[in-house]
Amino acid sequence: MSSWIDKKIEKLSSIGGYTKPELISDSVKLDSNENYVIPKQFQNDILSIARKNSDIREYPLGRIDELIKMISKFVKIPVSMIGVGNGSDQILDLILLHFASKKTKILTSKPTFGFFEERCKLYSIPLIAIPFSDDMKLDIAEFKKNSKSADILYLDSPNNPTGFTFTKPQLQKLIKSFSGLVIIDEAYGEFANYSLASMTKSCDNLIVVRTLSKSFGLAGLRLGYFVANKKFTETFMNVLQYPYPLSTITIESGIMALQKTDLMYNAAELIKSERKRITDSLKKFDAFDVFDSQANFILFDAHGSYKRVYSALAEQGISIRKLGKIGNHLGCLRVTVGTKEMNSKFLLAIRDLLG
Ligand SMILES: Cc1ncc(COP(=O)(O)O)c(C=O)c1O
Repeated sequence: MSSWIDKKIEKLSSIGGYTKPELISDSVKLDSNENYVIPKQFQNDILSIARKNSDIREYPLGRIDELIKMISKFVKIPVSMIGVGNGSDQILDLILLHFASKKTKILTSKPTFGFFEERCKLYSIPLIAIPFSDDMKLDIAEFKKNSKSADILYLDSPNNPTGFTFTKPQLQKLIKSFSGLVIIDEAYGEFANYSLASMTKSCDNLIVVRTLSKSFGLAGLRLGYFVANKKFTETFMNVLQYPYPLSTITIESGIMALQKTDLMYNAAELIKSERKRITDSLKKFDAFDVFDSQANFILFDAHGSYKRVYSALAEQGISIRKLGKIGNHLGCLRVTVGTKEMNSKFLLAIRDLLG
């Protein structure tokens, strides 16, 4: 192989890649913010109709418009302002590739969504990362102070892994005062109190990125979308995202899923009430610092019990995410809110260990 290829590969591999979470077979899977409250039957139903409506001998062309129409109805935003991608990951990646460079500074939080941060590292895009305070909150004044030096503002709202959101008026004010490109990632938006999707109608520099992975429980489908001004959307879809960004099965399943929003909203309500139950229960243990969340997961610092808690859960087939150090918190763990049954197993295992 030519030496420049070797060098390129070496440089890329030195950046490091994604580390898959440990796979524990048949586990109570609470490590990836997936949604098991949405019943398996939902998938079976949408997939069987999607299958009937699909002819995968053909490239997926016309039906993407129908999918965008369904998303438009769901978010109450005109079709001309909606674009789609292979998961919101791909949408974020394309925005970074084409709107950022080594010379553009991105203002964000620390921690922020891991994939976003890693992509910035891959493309050598500098970050101005505002750390969370010890109570896992962000100081809006710090963002305002750094706004002038940044070209792009990226916030996942709610934030992964803390579950934090600014209040709606706080975030709206920050966005209005920012003159560069604003990306608000609402992957967990349906579990929070508000969405800023409608703000894109009056704010030309705002892109709100959303997904069917979390609230609809369709992470494996890889269906993300965004809401932004008409010109950005048109360019994104016609220049960056052609010709076939989504598979036929994804398009047809998405159309079906968006006809069943009641089921999604009911699941989100249950997740919110279970989130409160888990948070309240974990707060009873002196060994933990537990942080309030607006998403479908909860972050807690298990301090000295960090490794013991993680291993004891793993031994019982309960898989949560090990995060370790976040600021001054050294033993951070993140647990996804699952079904009532999954959550009870998690809480019981903690009680057996520490109670
Ligand atoms: C904040 C945030 N944004 C985006 C994503 C990616 O979502 P998708 O499955 O649509 O690529 C995730 C997934 O964990 C996330 O936590």
